Amino acid sequence: MSDGKPVEQGAKKTVFVLNGPNLNLLGMREPEIYGSDTLDDIAGRLEDQAHALGLEVDIRQSNHEGHLVDWLQEAAADEARSVILNAGALTHTSIALHDAIKAIDVPVIEVHLSNPAARETFRHKSLIAPVAKGTICGFGALGYELALDAAQKF
Ligand code: DQA
Repeated sequence: MSDGKPVEQGAKKTVFVLNGPNLNLLGMREPEIYGSDTLDDIAGRLEDQAHALGLEVDIRQSNHEGHLVDWLQEAAADEARSVILNAGALTHTSIALHDAIKAIDVPVIEVHLSNPAARETFRHKSLIAPVAKGTICGFGALGYELALDAAQKF
């Protein structure tokens, strides 16, 4: 889906889509909360959407905090357009991810499938939100597509 505005030539095109712990289990993991789409289903749609928007997506998942830190730094080194980040449970605990986002000059869009504010109190605090460009949550897998649209527009 595009708003008709082509991405300018020479503009940054790559959007990193980084997924944290347990998101490899999407589709089987608590589907009543996270939905029935697998990460591959989401990735396929994002690739099509990116193509229509004149962007590229680099979609990754890791259960390890350090990989996510490395990939945020890589996004900066590669001058990525932006990062869409679902840090999973690390959202609520990771000062390392908070610091990595602060250290880079790439806008980070925080995404959650569920709405953490409507769940257990330990999910109410996000260490990502204060350093993110913005947050999209509660719309299931659609949140990634909304985030990619946002990435194209700013
Ligand atoms: C999540 C919300 C987190 O609280 C949880 O730990 C996850 C998934 C989401 O996408 O709704 O792993 O980030």
